[in-house]
Amino acid sequence: MGKIIVGKTGDLLPGKMQKIAADGKEILVANINGNFYAVDDTCTHAGASLYEGELEGDTLTCGWHGAKFDCKTGKLSAFPAKIKDLHSYKTVVESDNIFLEI
Ligand code: FES
Repeated sequence: MGKIIVGKTGDLLPGKMQKIAADGKEILVANINGNFYAVDDTCTHAGASLYEGELEGDTLTCGWHGAKFDCKTGKLSAFPAKIKDLHSYKTVVESDNIFLEI
């Protein structure tokens, strides 16, 4: 398992998202009430970048067809069709750096 630096905690404010490329994947990192969460950026419905969608509280809404995911866990929370959950990743804060465990 590798550890990848995402950035400084002060650069990713509460309610904001950041997209990074790591290990050949696109990963979305979000600050939800001061805690950092990471999930796959690619929507499991038709491949939209979730970074282009909206984050409200802990709900991530895909901008293409409106699938909603829990950004803390990656679980699908609302969509008419059954689609896969997002893979979620562990984040760690050390000093004021955010790391992702892959
Ligand atoms: S691509 Fe995300 S809901 Fe369709």
